[in-house]
Amino acid sequence: MRLRYPRYRYLRFPRATGACCWCPLSVGRMLATRVSRPLSRFSVRTLKFVDMRNGPRPMRGFSFPFSTPSSSPSSMNQVEEIGKRSVLITGCDSGFGFSLAKHLHSRGFIVFAGCLQKDKGEGGYKDLDAMNSSRMRTLQLNVCDGKEVERAVEYVNTSLGDSDRGLWGLVNNAGVSTFGEVEFTSMDTYMEVAEVNLWGTVRTTKAFLPLIRRAKGRVVNISSMMGRMGSPARSPYCITKFGVEAFSDCLRYEMHSQGVKVCIVEPGNFIAATSLYSPERIKAIADKMWEELPEVVRNDYGREYFDEQVNKMETYCNSGSVDTSPVIESIFHALSSPTPYTRYHPMDYYWWVRMQIMTHMPAAIADRLYVY
Ligand SMILES: NC(=O)c1ccc[n+]([C@@H]2O[C@H](COP(=O)([O-])OP(=O)(O)OC[C@H]3O[C@@H](n4cnc5c(N)ncnc54)[C@H](OP(=O)(O)O)[C@@H]3O)[C@@H](O)[C@H]2O)c1
Repeated sequence: MRLRYPRYRYLRFPRATGACCWCPLSVGRMLATRVSRPLSRFSVRTLKFVDMRNGPRPMRGFSFPFSTPSSSPSSMNQVEEIGKRSVLITGCDSGFGFSLAKHLHSRGFIVFAGCLQKDKGEGGYKDLDAMNSSRMRTLQLNVCDGKEVERAVEYVNTSLGDSDRGLWGLVNNAGVSTFGEVEFTSMDTYMEVAEVNLWGTVRTTKAFLPLIRRAKGRVVNISSMMGRMGSPARSPYCITKFGVEAFSDCLRYEMHSQGVKVCIVEPGNFIAATSLYSPERIKAIADKMWEELPEVVRNDYGREYFDEQVNKMETYCNSGSVDTSPVIESIFHALSSPTPYTRYHPMDYYWWVRMQIMTHMPAAIADRLYVY
């Protein structure tokens, strides 16, 4: 078999110079020119790790699961006057949001806890109100409803009183999830999940940014490891979390000059500890999905295959970590450290290794290892 060599157009040295095209010296000189030219186009500022306005940039590009930031930073590595800083969290009815509201309050923050079910008299808001603390304020907030988001901005603005201070933190935590292969998932489902996870995050962030900018504060977006790697039967959720990642990156670039920091928290599997899925919810999703399947899909795949997928999802949901403290500590660090990380990865070792392999190895290898 004849091997075909690629044409190294860029490495060829001009004949006119009389130099040998593959002489190591020539190749080295050519590569140096090729590499240094694009580098010279960067402004020098880009390569600096200390910024006069935003302080030092943390060198650690990722956090290991076993080095999840401690929730007890000393006063040296914590922003000053936490008691005067306010944070709004969305989705505080249950799960991470509910625990985070309590944790931030216990650490001295003024907490605005957005609750989806407050107007229905349901959900976690009752427990939060029962704390009877002037630093814990619950409010009705559906992130899909533009009017409710506007009202929340007004409420926070009025509560802050001293308008120059602004809002220190916004935690976009509200989220929903579903499962099902692409052929099994209706367009309505794709749009419903995106409405909360992606557009809800964008809507809430845009509405609160003026207040956050005033405080030179923080936006903390709760993404997921599923915002970094795809997974079979999770496309409706993955695409929204990939969207949150892209949104957060763009916002971080834009907000840098405003002194606002944007952090992304990418939790692993904590489903067993939150209300994202319950056995009843999985059953309800599965029943609805089977009902709505197009005839051709139902006949081609059959009920047995469908039930197998549902069982896999149930196993995944039962296999998660039940201790949410790594997530809560990561968010606290993002809000309280003078130099927060860009990304936090609270997850167990299995998912951390899998995420690194899926995002760094060639797909041909990563897919073989984890998917096929
Ligand atoms: N648990 C995990 O393993 C995991 C992993 C990675 C990322 N995450 C992310 O973490 C975040 C929190 O999820 P969780 O696990 O704590 O689940 P959760 O217990 O279900 O919390 C999500 C919260 O968001 C609320 N919510 C739903 N739709 C909303 C809307 N339109 N407006 C405002 N709030 C709304 C829910 O209210 P109701 O309860 O009233 O519906 C619930 O309180 C989500 O963004 C999720 O994607 C979770």
